[in-house]
Amino acid sequence: MNVPFLPNNPEKIVEADRAHVWHHLIQHKPFETIDPRIIVEGKGIHVWDIKGKEHLDGVSGGVWTVNVGYGRERIADAVRDQLVKLNYFAGSAGSIPGAQFSEKLIEKMPGMSRVYFANSGSEANEKGFKMVRQIAHKRYGGKKHKILYRERDYHGTTIATLSAGGQEERNAQYGPFTPGFVPVPHCLEYRGADQNLPDGESYGIRAARAIEEVILREGPDTVGALCLEPITAGGGVITPPEGYWETVQEICKKYDILLHIDEVVCGVGRTGTWFGYQNYDIKPDIVTMAKGVASGYAAISCCVTTEAVFDMFKDDASDPMGYFRDISTFGGCTAGPAAALENMAIIEEEGLLQNTVDMGAYFFGKLEELADKHTCIGDVRGKGLFLGAELVKDRDTREALDEKMVQAVVGDCMAQGVIIGATNRSLPGLNNTLCFSPALIANKDNLDHLADAVDQALTRVVG
Ligand SMILES: Cc1ncc(COP(=O)(O)O)c(C=O)c1O
Repeated sequence: MNVPFLPNNPEKIVEADRAHVWHHLIQHKPFETIDPRIIVEGKGIHVWDIKGKEHLDGVSGGVWTVNVGYGRERIADAVRDQLVKLNYFAGSAGSIPGAQFSEKLIEKMPGMSRVYFANSGSEANEKGFKMVRQIAHKRYGGKKHKILYRERDYHGTTIATLSAGGQEERNAQYGPFTPGFVPVPHCLEYRGADQNLPDGESYGIRAARAIEEVILREGPDTVGALCLEPITAGGGVITPPEGYWETVQEICKKYDILLHIDEVVCGVGRTGTWFGYQNYDIKPDIVTMAKGVASGYAAISCCVTTEAVFDMFKDDASDPMGYFRDISTFGGCTAGPAAALENMAIIEEEGLLQNTVDMGAYFFGKLEELADKHTCIGDVRGKGLFLGAELVKDRDTREALDEKMVQAVVGDCMAQGVIIGATNRSLPGLNNTLCFSPALIANKDNLDHLADAVDQALTRVVG
């Protein structure tokens, strides 16, 4: 294996970090006695920390991002070449990589047509929300402005995207929120509130009908859009139940509600299709994406729409307020689409969608084997290389495993040099799902290693 590049003054770097860096999503008090983690190098599916320790990265950069793996020189070269030619111009003008990537992307998204560039998943989602609001003003006197979101889903970190956030703990202490966002129930069958279904109705159809009930309660003429993750990520890796998406699509059509699919996690290969929604034959109006678009080699996000949505913003050239009056300064950075083009080429040339399907099925099987051995695994879910295992105290009652124990499983894997994830500060009492999302290049050896680490950790922590 690789020998990592290590700085000759690692202690100074750790001290500079401890003194000045405010890390994301983590308590800092422990850093008074332990060192913050600093990652210095990555190659393929492995990363090395500043102490020289090698880790198998089971979560693609921590948050489902580095889809094509680390150390891709061809992406770095393409970005470098583009930067010395033209690094930036505001998005009111086009760029060569922007046009080329848009064309390639739309080829993968039949029915979609226009790409709006931004630079984070939150921002892309806000663009979608702003489009819905402006359509409401242009066409419906502002009335059809409500945006429905689902319990357990997450759409970003800004106040407006948190307003569409269905994770109570993630939102706590950040209110008041933006008005006009309305929750609909989640669709996790394992924790479905209503298990007594009328004859002939599946859980999936019931969960979708629950959305219709919210629409009817709010008034269909007030609801502009429904924003959903195709498979919920940080809310517990929730694959939609049978019949769910077909019914959701039908409901949106019936009430003239735009369907906004948040592909920030599932987008660009994670589930074995280009986009998560393509597993379910959904026809969205708005699709947002970020993380895997350039695998973290450059910051880029996209809000993609149909031509019909786009047309609503160009119907009257004489109206000085009638177009989408929005900008993302860094949406004009050319590094993003240059990296995204290479990222997409790698996925195609290396057959990574098929690898994701094959290796996803292999790892799903490994998790099921672990569930046969460890009764604390209550449910195994996911698609492609986007999988989760929900941990419980008791399989019959489905009482969630204590969060500290879930974190101890993650910590034990880390000590073994294997990075896995777990739902974190999202739902009170239900931060109990282990998350696995290795790079799409993962092979059987990598996945055996990952499963073996989890096996050992569960034995040590839970027994
Ligand atoms: C489904 C989903 N949407 C949106 C976001 C926000 O993306 P970003 O952190 O790039 O703003 C995330 C981030 O984890 C996400 O999981």
